[in-house]
Amino acid sequence: MYVCICNSVTDSDIRDAVLDGVCNMRQLKHSTGCGSKCGCCKEMAAEVLQQSLAEARQSKLQLPVMQMA
Ligand code: FES
Repeated sequence: MYVCICNSVTDSDIRDAVLDGVCNMRQLKHSTGCGSKCGCCKEMAAEVLQQSLAEARQSKLQLPVMQMA
């Protein structure tokens, strides 16, 4: 789904940005342009960002622990 119409940013783009290290709205704006024009998308973008960060944290918790032999 499109989150930012002005810059054609989707929820998937935001999830990808989080996987690339984005962790706040300033970084998301810099990385994708989301929110850089009319600003109508900022609230929705913040929600998707928050959810994506929570999912990323959760998946990191589920990664296997590397064991030193
Ligand atoms: S909809 Fe995102 S800046 Fe306009």
